[in-house]
Amino acid sequence: MCGIVGYIGSKNVLPILLDGLKKLEYRGYDSAGVSFVSNNSLQTVKAAGKIVALEKKLKDFADEQSSLGIGHTRWATHGAPTENNAHPHVSADGKIAVVHNGIIENYASLKAKLQQNGVEFKSDTDTEVVAHLISHFYQGDLKSAVIQAIGKLEGAFGFGIICKDEPDVLIGARRGSPLVFGIGDNGEYYLASDVAAIVNHTHKIVYLDDNDIVVAHHGGYEILNLQSQTVQRDVQKIDFDEDAVAKCGFDHYMLKEIFEQPEALRNTMRGRLNIADGNAKLAGLEANIRELRDINRIIITACGTSYYAGMVGEYVIEDLAGVPVEVEYASEFRYRNPIIKPGTLVLAISQSGETADTLAAMKEAHQKGATVLGICNGIGSSIARNSDGGVYLHAGPEIGVASTKAFSGQVLVLTMIALLLGRQRRVSFEHGMEIANAITEIPELVEETLKLNSAIRTIAEKYKDAKNFLYLGRHYNYPVAMEGALKLKEISYIHAEGYPAAEMKHGPIALIDENMPVVVIAPKDALFDKIISNIREIKARGGKVIAVTTQDCSPLDEFADDLIRVPTTLPMLMPILTCVPLQLLAYHVATLRGNNVDQPRNLAKSVTVE
Ligand code: M6R
Repeated sequence: MCGIVGYIGSKNVLPILLDGLKKLEYRGYDSAGVSFVSNNSLQTVKAAGKIVALEKKLKDFADEQSSLGIGHTRWATHGAPTENNAHPHVSADGKIAVVHNGIIENYASLKAKLQQNGVEFKSDTDTEVVAHLISHFYQGDLKSAVIQAIGKLEGAFGFGIICKDEPDVLIGARRGSPLVFGIGDNGEYYLASDVAAIVNHTHKIVYLDDNDIVVAHHGGYEILNLQSQTVQRDVQKIDFDEDAVAKCGFDHYMLKEIFEQPEALRNTMRGRLNIADGNAKLAGLEANIRELRDINRIIITACGTSYYAGMVGEYVIEDLAGVPVEVEYASEFRYRNPIIKPGTLVLAISQSGETADTLAAMKEAHQKGATVLGICNGIGSSIARNSDGGVYLHAGPEIGVASTKAFSGQVLVLTMIALLLGRQRRVSFEHGMEIANAITEIPELVEETLKLNSAIRTIAEKYKDAKNFLYLGRHYNYPVAMEGALKLKEISYIHAEGYPAAEMKHGPIALIDENMPVVVIAPKDALFDKIISNIREIKARGGKVIAVTTQDCSPLDEFADDLIRVPTTLPMLMPILTCVPLQLLAYHVATLRGNNVDQPRNLAKSVTVE
C-alpha cells in the first residue's frame, strides 16, 4: 500500500525522503513523488513507475537545499497509476502539498462543492480534495486549516502536509491509517507510515492514535486532537536491528525471510514454554487467563496468509482444548451480523497489524461485546493497540510481500495458545509436556528442511512453465495447501488452487491431465493411506505429482514424480515444516520466470484500505 515519509530538521531533505521511499518500496506501489520547500517556493516532483524514475528526475534538483519535505509511494485506488495521480497533491494556489494513505470516502461530494467554488482539479484522486480543502480554510495558520479540513473528512487517512508560507512546519495526522512520528537528534523530526522508513535516523518513535495531529517545528513538536487540545503520547524506544530491514546477502527479502524462520521461531517461543508444567506461558494473555478458562467458542478472523494460519489454529485448538472454533475472513465478518454471545472469544491475526478489514472486524466484535485478542508481528501496530490482550510473533520485520516467516510464527503462536487452553481443560500433564518438547525441536527441524533448497529449485525448473497448479492436503495440512497455492499465485502469477485432498474427486479432478502439476502434502500420519489413494487417482489421469512427505515413509517412491522429504514431528506441528518447501517452490518458480518476488504486481504488503 501507499507509503509516507516526511522530514523537518537541519539536514538536506531530499536524500532523506528518497532513502525513506526506498525503504517503503516493499509495501507495493506504482508511482512516487516528493514536495519540498526551498527558497520560499514549493517544489513538487512526481513520476509514474518505480522510484528510480523519480530519482532520475530529482537529479535536476541536486543543488536545492531544503530542510522540509514530504514524500509518497502510491498504490492506486482512485485513478490510474499516472504521474498526475501520484502524490503529493498541491492546492490550486500552489502553496499546500499533501501526501495521503487511505481513502476519503466523501471525496466526491467535497469535490463537487469545491468545483462549484471554482477550484479546478488536476487528478482523479480522492487526495487532491484534501489539498484544496486545507487551502480553502487557510488564513495564515496551517495547523488550524488542517484541523478544520479534517473535520469535514470521512474515511481513513494518514497525512503528511507542508505549506510554502510556513517553512517551519511539518504536519502529520491519522485516522485509521498508520502513521508514526520519529524524534531525531538536534530538533529533527520524521513522519512515516512505517518505522522501516526512518529507523536508520531514529529509534525514538511516537505511534500516533486516531485523530491525532502532530505539528513539528524546527526544534519542537506538539500533538493535538480535533478540538486543538494538546494530547500526550508516549515516546517509545524501539529495538530495531537495521540488518532486519536489509537483504544481508540474499537476492530477495522473501528468500532471506524463508531462511530466517528457525531464528524467528526461536524468538517466537522464547520464554513462552514451561516444559516442567507441560504448558505455555504467554505474558500477553496473563490478564485474560481466567476469562480464557470460561470461553466456550472462538472466532478467528484474518485475511490472506494469516487466515490460513488461523485455519491451522482451528484444528489445533479444537483438538487440544475441545473449544469450537470458526475461522472467518475479516472482510466477510465485518459486514454480516456475526453471532457473538457471552463466552465467545475473537482472535484477530495479522502480520502487519494494520490490515483494514481485520481492524474493522475487531471493531465489529468489540461492538458486540466480545473480548478480542490479537496475534500480530507489527509491534505497536493498530491491531495490537486495539486488542484486549494478545501475543506478538517477534519474528522481526517481514518485508517481502509474500508472507513466509509470519505464517510459521502464527501457527506456532496458535499452537501455544491451544496448549494453554488445552491445559486449562483436557490436556494431561504428560501430553502437554510432549507437545512443549516437540515445539522446542521445531527450529532445528526447519533448519534441516531448508537444506532442501537446491533440490526444490531443480523441481521448480521442471514445472516453471506450467499454467496451473493444484495443491492438496488433508487435516492440519489442508490449510498449508491453501497457503502454498496462494504463495505461488502471488509471486509467479500462475493460477493455483488449494483443496482438501479428498474434495478433488468432487470437481477439480476434471482438470487433471499431463499438464497439471499437483503438489500433495502427504506426511506419514493417520490419513497417509487416504492421501495415497488421492495420489493414485491423480496418476491414473496422467497428472504430475510433487509429494511433500516425511523422511519416514517409502511407499510414495513409486507414485510421485518428485519427492520432497521433510523431517517428522507431531502431526499438529507438521504445517510449520510442510509450509517451508512450498514457500521455496513458489520462490524458485517465480524467480525462474523472472518475476520481482519482493514486489509482485498489483500487491501491497499491508492492505490498509478496504
Ligand atoms: O498483515 P496481514 O497478515 O493482516 O495481511 C494479510 C494479507 O494481506 C496477507 O497475508 C497477504 O495475503 C500476503 N501477501 C500473503 O502472502
